[in-house]
Amino acid sequence: MLKLNLFISLLIFGSLIAVNDAARGSRRGKMTEAPSTTPKVESSEENSSEEETFKILVTHPEVPQEALDLMSRGCKLIMCESLPPNRTEILQKAKGVHGMFWGSHIPLDKEVLDVAGPQLKSISTMSAGIDYVDVEELKKRKIPLGHTPIVLSDAVADLAMGLMLSAARRFHEGRTKIDSSTWENYHIEWMWGQDVRDSTVGFFGFGSIGQAIAKRLKGFDIERVLYTTRRPIDKKLEKQFNAQKVEFHELLGQSDFLFIAAPLTPETEGIFNSTAFPKMKKTAVLINIARGPIVNQDDLYTALKTNQIFSAGIDVMNPEPLPANDKLLTLPNIVITPHIGSATKRTRTDMATIAAHNVLRGLVGEPMLSPAY
Ligand code: DGY
Repeated sequence: MLKLNLFISLLIFGSLIAVNDAARGSRRGKMTEAPSTTPKVESSEENSSEEETFKILVTHPEVPQEALDLMSRGCKLIMCESLPPNRTEILQKAKGVHGMFWGSHIPLDKEVLDVAGPQLKSISTMSAGIDYVDVEELKKRKIPLGHTPIVLSDAVADLAMGLMLSAARRFHEGRTKIDSSTWENYHIEWMWGQDVRDSTVGFFGFGSIGQAIAKRLKGFDIERVLYTTRRPIDKKLEKQFNAQKVEFHELLGQSDFLFIAAPLTPETEGIFNSTAFPKMKKTAVLINIARGPIVNQDDLYTALKTNQIFSAGIDVMNPEPLPANDKLLTLPNIVITPHIGSATKRTRTDMATIAAHNVLRGLVGEPMLSPAY
């Protein structure tokens, strides 16, 4: 059994500063305040004066330095070196660690937990989505899990706006016209797209990311917002965004732009499929910045190919990476980015720092900054 040393209170102090920043949505403060001490632990073995140190497995070699500095002040970091991150290496290095900084989307499952052993007491992902984590198994073992939602919402919302505009106004197809010297702008109707102004915008999932998108849309003079969520959102927020909760079939039927911003769960997997697409407007634009498997990709291909919907903009797909010969890439009316929603220096650094605080706080038995449950 491990026991905390006296300096842990300073670790908590460091985490509290970051909590305050997190509460401010990380907009002003940088998530880099470090605990000014060493979260070393002493062995509680009766006859042992030997001091032990928490070991944290860091499953990605490129975790931002700020997060590594934070964790290495008192813990021994076991670094994985493979790129892309590699499950075999993780399994080789997991044995005996107390914490895990899970820096990739490799499944975090029973096998990993078994290999690590019963001393494992704290894990954080560096992502908002935790669909690759066996949450039930962690709960069964009473291991707290942290993740990093909210801090990435602005970056993801920025990308979502880009996808919406580029799919509505046919950026990709336009580029191919230039490449093939087939400008035909002598036609009045050439390359007509969809107006955002006065549109109905639907959100499948209206949490922090959906709301960050809605905030940006305020400058676009849209008509109204519709959403589906598991729970209705706060009335004040509904008023702020002129948003109305509707049934899924209404969302499909009424949205001019439809953003997928929900977690991947057994309920959401494949819900955008050959039953859903024909219910959408032929002029509708679909944007997915959540998880690829929420959309049945074969059905999306057919819907785009046969003009059941106007276009799509997606940052997530199935599988990832998408093979270069995938049929989706042959379509003119889809804009695809390679899962880069949170890919800015500031956002990734903040995500890493929050994840580091999560792990450290879990190690000392304190509530995490952003617990997953
Ligand atoms: C997330 O945080 O879930 C993003 O998809 C990046 O991993």
